[in-house]
Amino acid sequence: CGIVGILGKGAVAPQIVDALKRLEYRGYDSAGVATLEKGALARRRAPGKLRALEDKLAKEPLTGHAGIGHTRWATHGGPSEANAHPHATERVAVVHNGIIENYKELREELADHGVVFSSDTDTETIVHLVTAELDAGKSPQDAVPAVLAKLRGAFALAFLFKGEEDLMIAARRGSPLAVGYGDGEMYVGSDAIALAPFTDKITYLEDGDCAILTHTGVSIRDCDGNGSKVARVTQKSTVSAALIEKGNYRHFMAKEIAEQPDVVGHTLAHHLDMAKGRARIPEGIDFKKLDRIAFSACGTAYYAGLVARYWFEKLARIPVDIDIASEFRYREPPLKPGGLAILISQSGETADTLATLRHCKEQGMQIASVVNVTSSTIARESDAILPTLGGPEIGVASTKAFTCQLATLAALAVAAGKARGVLSDDDEQRLVASLVELPRLMAETLKLEPQIERIAKDLAKAQDALYLGRGTSFPIAMEGALKLKEISYIHAEGYAAGELKHGPIALVDEKMPVVVLAPYDTLFEKTVSNMQEVAARGGKVLLVTDPDGAKEAAGEFETLIVPKSYAFVTPMIYAIPMQLLAYHTAVFMGTDVDQPRNLAKSVTVE
Ligand code: G6P
Repeated sequence: CGIVGILGKGAVAPQIVDALKRLEYRGYDSAGVATLEKGALARRRAPGKLRALEDKLAKEPLTGHAGIGHTRWATHGGPSEANAHPHATERVAVVHNGIIENYKELREELADHGVVFSSDTDTETIVHLVTAELDAGKSPQDAVPAVLAKLRGAFALAFLFKGEEDLMIAARRGSPLAVGYGDGEMYVGSDAIALAPFTDKITYLEDGDCAILTHTGVSIRDCDGNGSKVARVTQKSTVSAALIEKGNYRHFMAKEIAEQPDVVGHTLAHHLDMAKGRARIPEGIDFKKLDRIAFSACGTAYYAGLVARYWFEKLARIPVDIDIASEFRYREPPLKPGGLAILISQSGETADTLATLRHCKEQGMQIASVVNVTSSTIARESDAILPTLGGPEIGVASTKAFTCQLATLAALAVAAGKARGVLSDDDEQRLVASLVELPRLMAETLKLEPQIERIAKDLAKAQDALYLGRGTSFPIAMEGALKLKEISYIHAEGYAAGELKHGPIALVDEKMPVVVLAPYDTLFEKTVSNMQEVAARGGKVLLVTDPDGAKEAAGEFETLIVPKSYAFVTPMIYAIPMQLLAYHTAVFMGTDVDQPRNLAKSVTVE
């Protein structure tokens, strides 16, 4: 979910809606705004996309100078107006991101005291608890910490109080929240992207912080501790408003796909010493001392980890465990103190990944994280940060963040191989040279877009699709299937090509498109056999390969020809046709590409 709060000089509702638009990628099944209208709390809320809220505000405008807003990704209670934030009583309104774990007990307690609830949310308990404290005579500044002490779970909150035009209280435990400084105005937002159009002067709140804002400043207290004042640094946000505009593109996803050669180039420049042909070793990580690495992530980032396993095992001869973050802790893997865990996350806020990080830390492991948002919680709780320099990724389906994660992990695998004495100087130079070439090859691959658009027209008619690959192309096949599922809602599965005959081949008939990723390498012949197995059963193969592979396949299958590259870098190249195929299929189907149904960009609940 996304949170915005403004103590402003003029009517804040339009500014709040503008900021919510930038946050809509975090959740978009309902939205709402609350302002103080002559001291009284007034709300407008609507289920559905932000447009519905805008329509409502056009008919019934809000003019107050202090306000809070929210865009929601439903957890407790379906997307309806009643469940949309802000939740409020007459005295206080709140917007909330995260989950209150003990809300059932709190709700029962409140109901016993005669409170009538108007929503199914965990959030509504908060406003009733605060109201009770205010009714008991506490000031807002004392009421909020008293209630925070009763809440369990991870959350970010922003409160607005009846009759308090010069006050907003924000609190953070687990979910991110930033305070922004304006000229006689103050802001609160769930990330720097929300605040970018207003100010670049921001302070990230820490866990347990409670911020008391007035029009002229903020005072931050440690509410989970003894309530004393704490100093937090103010920094210049690097997120410029221009970076989060669509430009000439129809969708953010299209823009982000197109940006990949540039942002992968920036990312590589950070992790490689290109002039010397070396991969940089991050400070604090001694690969020589490690006997294994544990990777963990969710969604697309998990697939980046799967590719990385091939690289680290082959190039650095180090065993790698990789888990989906939501499974990791519950599997109770034996972890070695001093061992290395690498978390991969675009947002750096994914709750499952963060929980894994904390679990590994408790076990005495060293933590490195591959993150796109370096101010994020995961980044801040890591011993070493390996930034991906993708810039803000707004499209919910991850594209450029994925290839930047891959580029970062590729550079790291080379550094590890060198440090462990597996790679010689020459090996390192050769691998680095293949990475340096990568942005150019990715730009070349993007030129396939018109052909892919034509193929997508057919794919849009399918109900199911299979994606096959071997080696590092196997995780890319899974990523291709995930992209298609996410934005076109066509059911798709990614499989190891060799596994086809052990099950999925039963699904193959003339209606089933089968996308086969097969660079011309040592595994090519075997993959061609798998394609023939598909073709023999009437399945429609789309072969994605390089010029040598295409020559070998001799026009037997519909073929997309990507540039020839070193085997090491093929994942970043083959990811592009996967993204474009899903994108154009979704465009043909008329789905909401940047904000597909039921998904959210940053999932801060477990
Ligand atoms: C959500 C997004 C996915 C993303 C995953 C992990 O499910 O929809 O695109 O891959 O979260 O996000 P992270 O920010 O941790 O990379």
